[in-house]
Amino acid sequence: MPTGNYKIQHHQHDVVVVGAGGAGLRACLGLAEAGLSTACVTKVFPTRSHTVAAQGGMSAALANMGEDDWRWHMYDTVKGSDWLGDQEAISFMCKEAPSAVIELEHYGVPFSRTGEGKIYQRAFGGMTTNFGQGQAQRTCAAADRTGHAILHTLYQQSLKHNAEFFIEYFAIDLIMEDGECRGVLAWCLETGELHVFWASQVILATGGYGRAYFSATSAHTCTGDGNAMVLRAGLPLQDMEFVQFHPTGVYGSGCLITEGARGEGGFLTNADGERFMERYAPNAKDLASRDVVSRSMTMEIRAGRGVGRDEDHIYLHLEHLGADILAERLPGISETARIFAGVDVCKSPIPVIPTVHYNMGGIPTNIHGECMGSASGNDKEVVPGLMAIGEAGCVSVHGANRLGSNSLLDLIVFGRASARRAVENAKTKSLAKRGNNALFEPAISRFDHMRFSEGGVSTASIRLKMQRAMQSNCAVFRNQQVLEEGVHEIDATIDLLSDVGIKDRSMIWNTDLVEALELENLLSQAKVTVHSALARQESRGAHARDDFPDRDDAHWMSHTNARLNNGLVGLSYRPVVLETGTTEVETIAPKARVY
Ligand code: FUM
Repeated sequence: MPTGNYKIQHHQHDVVVVGAGGAGLRACLGLAEAGLSTACVTKVFPTRSHTVAAQGGMSAALANMGEDDWRWHMYDTVKGSDWLGDQEAISFMCKEAPSAVIELEHYGVPFSRTGEGKIYQRAFGGMTTNFGQGQAQRTCAAADRTGHAILHTLYQQSLKHNAEFFIEYFAIDLIMEDGECRGVLAWCLETGELHVFWASQVILATGGYGRAYFSATSAHTCTGDGNAMVLRAGLPLQDMEFVQFHPTGVYGSGCLITEGARGEGGFLTNADGERFMERYAPNAKDLASRDVVSRSMTMEIRAGRGVGRDEDHIYLHLEHLGADILAERLPGISETARIFAGVDVCKSPIPVIPTVHYNMGGIPTNIHGECMGSASGNDKEVVPGLMAIGEAGCVSVHGANRLGSNSLLDLIVFGRASARRAVENAKTKSLAKRGNNALFEPAISRFDHMRFSEGGVSTASIRLKMQRAMQSNCAVFRNQQVLEEGVHEIDATIDLLSDVGIKDRSMIWNTDLVEALELENLLSQAKVTVHSALARQESRGAHARDDFPDRDDAHWMSHTNARLNNGLVGLSYRPVVLETGTTEVETIAPKARVY
C-alpha cells in the first residue's frame, strides 16, 4: 500500500482555498477577515499567480469618464456571451462591480487616475453605453499592469488578516466521501512531504487550462489542476468547448498585448494596409468583441491578406498614439513588444495573431460559488463542501465569449461572494473532522504510479502532441472532420500516457513529476473540450463551425456538462438561465449580434 511509503501531515481548517490568484486571494481575504481558519494552498508564490499578467483592467460602471449604468454593462455582457451567459449571474456581477472596485481601491490598489483624481477608465471591446448606442469607458486600469496591482494588494491584505499560506504545494486530488468534499491532498515541493488538508469547505481557484494549446497567453502553470480534480471525482465541467482566442498575442511568442491598446486608439491592418475591422464591424471596428475580431483576423489571413514573410499574421498600430501616452498608459506592452517582437511601438506596428487566452468553461457553480452537479448525474444538486471561483469556475457570466476586463471583475465579485457564503455556511458547519486514510489512498496510488513510471515516452513529447492537436483541431474555426480528427488525436495522446517515463524519483522539487501530473490534468480537459465541441452543432461565440455557421437558439441555448467515467466522456445539457433574479432589470431576449 503506497500510503505507508509516504510521510503525511494532517491539517484541519474551516476553509481551504486552492490557488492564490485574484479569485483565491479575494476569497482568502474575506474568510480571514471574518475570522475563519483559512488555509491557502498554492502551486506558485501568490504574487506569481497568473492574475499578475492581467493587463488592461477591470470593468465596472463607475461613470468616471462619461455616463454609465450597470444595466448597460449587463446588456453588453449578455450580448458578448452570445446569449449563453446566465442572466441571473450576469446581473449579479454587473450590479456588484462598482462596490467591488471601490473596495479594492480602499484596500490599496493603486489605480491610474483622471485629472480629477478619480479611477481612470478606458474603452474595451464590446463595452457600450445605452444598450449598444455609444462606446463606454468602463474598464478601471492601473496603467497596463492592473492584475499585478490587484494581486499584490490582496496578498498583503490576506497576510494582514492572518490567512495561512502553504506556498509551492501541488494539489493532487480532492478528498470526497459520499458525494461531499472533505478536503484536499497536496504535495509540498520544498520538503517532499504529502499533506492532507481536512476542511469543512474547499474553494477551488486554480485557474484555466490554456496550456493544453501550443500558443497561449497563459503562464506555463495554467494547467487547470482543479478542473481535472473535479473530473476525477466524477463531477462535471461545463461549456468546455468555448475557448477564447485573444486577438493580439505577439506573433511567435504568444505574449499578450492588451486590448487596452486598441481601447487607447490602436488599430489593426492587413497586408494592404487596410483597417479591415471597419468591414467586419462597422460600428465597433477594432473594439468589437474578441470572438468577432479573432475570426476577422483569421479570415483576412486565410484570404491571403496576412502580413510578414509567410503572410500569416496581422499588424497592430500604436505609433500614432505618441510616446507620452504610450509611456503613461501602456508601458508594459511597450516593453513586451520590444523584448518579444523587437519592435519600438513608437515607430513600428506589432506583429500579432489570435492566441488562446481564456477558458469560458469550467466547474459549474451557482452565484455563491457553490459547485453544481453530483457524480450521480444531477446537474441541479449542490456538491456539499465544494466551491469554485475565477477561471476555474463557470457561473456562467461569460457564456460563449467573455468580454475583455470582465475576468478581473469575475474574480473579485465571485471571490467575495464565495467567502460570504462560506462564512454563512460555517455558522452551521462544525470544524473539519479528520477522516479515514482510505479516503485519500486512491489519490496516493495515482501519484505513486506516476512517480515510478518507467515507460519510454517523455512528458514533453506527449505534451507537444496534445498542444499541436488542440491548436490545429479545436481552433478559431472548427468543423466535423477537424473535430473528429481532434478527438482521435487526443485519445491517441492519452494512450501514450501509460508509456510515460519519469526519470526523477525524488520527492523534493521533482519538476519532472510535477510536469507529468500537470500533463495528465491537461489531457483530461483537452478530451472533454474536443468532445463537447464536436457535439455542439451550431456556431455561438468562440465556437465557430464552418459546417454549422448559424447560432441555433431553438436547439442549443443550453450549457454542456461533461463528465468522465472510466475514460469515456458523458455529455448532458441544461438550459441557459434567462431570469435575471431581480426586478431591477428584465431578461435580455436573444437577437442577432451586430457590432
Ligand atoms: O487585453 C487584456 O488586457 C486582457 C484583459 C482580459 O482578458 O480581461
